[in-house]
Amino acid sequence: MTSDDFLSQLERHLASRLLSSEALARYDRGRLGKAFLAPLADAVARLSNDFTRARRALTEAASGDYWRDARRLAYLFHFLPRNYVKAAWVLTEAGRHAPLARQLAAKSRFVILDIGCGPGTASLATLGFLAALRPAAFHVNIALVDAAPNATQEAVELLRQAVAWLNAERREAITLCLAPQVGAAAQVESYLPSGGADFVWLSNVLNESDHASAERQSGGVPAWVKTLTREGLAADGGLYVIEPALHETARAAMRLRDALLEDDPTLGIFAPCAAAGPCRMLAERPARDWCHVALTWKPPPLVAQLDSLTGLRSQVQKFFYFVLRRDGKRAAEPRQGWSPWRVVGDLQREKGREKRLVCGVDRCALLTRFKRDRRPENAPFGDAERGDILWLSESPAPLADGLRLAPGARVERQSLIE
Ligand SMILES: C[S@@+](CC[C@H](N)C(=O)[O-])C[C@H]1O[C@@H](n2cnc3c(N)ncnc32)[C@H](O)[C@@H]1O
Repeated sequence: MTSDDFLSQLERHLASRLLSSEALARYDRGRLGKAFLAPLADAVARLSNDFTRARRALTEAASGDYWRDARRLAYLFHFLPRNYVKAAWVLTEAGRHAPLARQLAAKSRFVILDIGCGPGTASLATLGFLAALRPAAFHVNIALVDAAPNATQEAVELLRQAVAWLNAERREAITLCLAPQVGAAAQVESYLPSGGADFVWLSNVLNESDHASAERQSGGVPAWVKTLTREGLAADGGLYVIEPALHETARAAMRLRDALLEDDPTLGIFAPCAAAGPCRMLAERPARDWCHVALTWKPPPLVAQLDSLTGLRSQVQKFFYFVLRRDGKRAAEPRQGWSPWRVVGDLQREKGREKRLVCGVDRCALLTRFKRDRRPENAPFGDAERGDILWLSESPAPLADGLRLAPGARVERQSLIE
């Protein structure tokens, strides 16, 4: 089942469970009227405001408050699908790493630890990812941790439903064991799986849960996150962190990435960075820059309708992420004679040249292609999207404001969008 198919099925399931029968009938005929959607659109607009402009109030008052009122539906219909595609994108990148994909496909038992799980967004994406990777039977243990009881209940319901949908299309079944826990992320001792998890998810939770902590302010690792990586992550597992693509939240997560790598030398960066070591963007770029990727997708019908009622735009999802592992694997495995550069900026066109911000093994810099150097061999420089990796067959040369794409360099694009 593709992500698109899953999200369509999920949307109809939510509509049948949470909207009136008349609204469902209209949904099935193609479009819900404005009258049906107005209260939901209002809640989506409020929740979007909570997550952006009023973010501080949300974190300082009571994170997860939105699970107690109409914003719960806003989360389920609008934010769940948007966060699902982000998690699915991050997993797709992991799945394109051939040895990692083989290693996962050979396993028959998986453990997922989903902290700040909300409605189980990241676990749902992980289930879909594993189902596509492994046609043979497998078992998944999922520890679902959230401060909001409504959120964990929703996660349990949706994960059971998702497994039923997946199994309906499979010869060999997926079995599931869910361990929901209502509580604070910081109470790690109470939910750490023995032997560690294959997937530890912190998806859009750090900015809510740990906003004011002294460690985060100073760029250190909160004690519970230390315990989580030391004891909660299996030797061949991955820590998957997603945060909103906002200046403050992304830069705090960039500092956390650095602090985690410094604190525990057994951890290595899988993605998005081309190499270990301190974040090159933090070290070398002005404070106004923050690392994020952009993913273009086709939102399901209700998300699109809610977008047009609220003025939100879901088609391009921007987000910050990083993935840490202990086994030395990297999304951009070294290739003899080629250097990898993650695209972290949009194409800027200027007279006689095009530039984009890229992050490589030893620096984060504006990479310039002069118009006179345009060739079919370097066409991917112009076509690439934020989040792609550009592989260069020749090292770029220094320029006053960054680097110059060598005129004879071949450029290959490692993209997740086919
Ligand atoms: C923005 S939602 C993210 C949900 C889901 N992971 C996703 O990506 O869609 C943040 C979730 O974290 C939960 N949360 C926030 N702070 C928390 C904390 N300190 N401990 C446990 N859960 C927390 C909230 O209740 C909410 O469900």
